[in-house]
Amino acid sequence: MKPIPVAVLGATGSVGQRFISLLDNHPWFTVVALAASDRSVGQKFSDACRWVLNEPMPEYARDMVVVSASPDSVQAKIVFSALHNEIAKDLEPQFAKAGAAVCSNASSYRREEDVPLLLPEVNAEHIQLVKIQRQQRDWSGCILTNPNCTSTGLTVALKALDDSFGVKKVFAVSLQALSGAGYPGVSSLDIIDNVIPNIGGEEEKVEWEPRKMLGKMADSKIQLSDIRFSAHTNRVAVIDGHTVCVSVEFAQRVSPEDAIQVMRSYQAPASARDLPSSPRPAISVREEADRPQPRLDRLTGKGMTTVVGRLRRDPLLDLKFVVLSHNTIRGAAGGSIYNAELLVNENLL
Ligand SMILES: NC(=O)c1ccc[n+]([C@@H]2O[C@H](COP(=O)([O-])OP(=O)(O)OC[C@H]3O[C@@H](n4cnc5c(N)ncnc54)[C@H](OP(=O)(O)O)[C@@H]3O)[C@@H](O)[C@H]2O)c1
Repeated sequence: MKPIPVAVLGATGSVGQRFISLLDNHPWFTVVALAASDRSVGQKFSDACRWVLNEPMPEYARDMVVVSASPDSVQAKIVFSALHNEIAKDLEPQFAKAGAAVCSNASSYRREEDVPLLLPEVNAEHIQLVKIQRQQRDWSGCILTNPNCTSTGLTVALKALDDSFGVKKVFAVSLQALSGAGYPGVSSLDIIDNVIPNIGGEEEKVEWEPRKMLGKMADSKIQLSDIRFSAHTNRVAVIDGHTVCVSVEFAQRVSPEDAIQVMRSYQAPASARDLPSSPRPAISVREEADRPQPRLDRLTGKGMTTVVGRLRRDPLLDLKFVVLSHNTIRGAAGGSIYNAELLVNENLL
C-alpha cells in the first residue's frame, strides 16, 4: 500500500504526543504535518513541545515545523485531532469539508446522529454512518469520533457480556489518571494525597456514550441501547490508566465463571480483528485477587487491550468486576488510529 499522508492537530499536547509516538513506523500512515496553537506555530516540534512520554520523541518529528491547524496549512488525507472541544467544534468540519477524514478525540460531534462513535472491536459496523454523513453534509471528508477514555474499557467489557447475557443496569465508579486531564493538567497541590470526586461533564458522558456504541444500526440510524447507567467519576494520582469498578444487572442469571469465559473468548468483528492497531487480545481477564492495577497492567496488548479482573457476585445487582484501560493509548490516540485503519480497510477513505 502507498503510504497515506496523515497529520496531527494538537500535536504538542498529552494526546498529540501519543499520536506522534504511535505513528512512528506505522505500516500504512506517514505523518506529513504537525499542528498546534499560535504559541507553537513556526517552531521546530522539539522546541515547541515539552515531551512527557517515557519513550523518546521519535526522530521524524523533532525537526518538523509546527503549522497552524487550518486546512490551508495541513494537506493530509487523514487528520488526527487532539484538540479541545471548543476548538475542535469549529475546526474539524473545516477539514472534513476540505476532504480530510478527521479522527477526533473531542466530544463536540460524538452525539450527532450521522457521526460514528467508534470502538472497532465493539461496533465496527457503525462506520457505515460515514456514507450518510457525506450525503447529508455535502462534504467529501468525514468526522469519526472515539468515546471518552472512561467509557472505552467499560464499553468493551459490557459488549462481551451484553451479547451473551443481555445487560440491564450498570453502576460504575471510575478512578481516572492524571494524563486524562491533558498537560499540565491538575495541579500537584490539588492531587497529591488526594482524590477529586468530580470531573466536569464526565459522568454524563459515561452514562450516555456506551448506549450509542452498544446501540444497533437500523434504517441507517443508531437506536440507543436501553441499558441504564449510573456513574461516579474521580480523579486519582495515577499517571496513565483509567480504572473503573463496575456492578451489572443482567436479563438472566449469570455465573462469574460464565462471564469470565465470555470475556476471554470475545473477539472483535472480522473487519476490525486484524488491523495494525487491533488489540490482541480484545479483553484480558486476570484471576489474581489484586489485579488489574494501572502501573502493572496498562500496557497489556501494547496499551490497546481492555483488562478485566475481580469478576465476582454482587449482592445488590448480579456481578461486579474491575476494568482497566490505557487512557491516552486505547482511550485516545491508539483508538483514533484504530478507527482510521478501519476506515481504510472498509474502503471509506
Ligand atoms: N488525555 C486523555 O487521556 C484524553 C482521552 C480522550 C480524549 N481526550 C481529548 O483529547 C483532546 C486533547 O486533550 P489533551 O489531553 O491532549 O489536551 P492538552 O494536553 O491540553 O493539549 C492540547 C493541544 O491543543 C493545542 N491547541 C490549543 N489551542 C489550539 C488552537 N486554538 N488551535 C490549534 N491547536 C490548539 C495545544 O497546542 P499548544 O501546545 O501550542 O498550546 C496542544 O497541542 C481533548 O478534546 C480531550 O478531551 C483526551
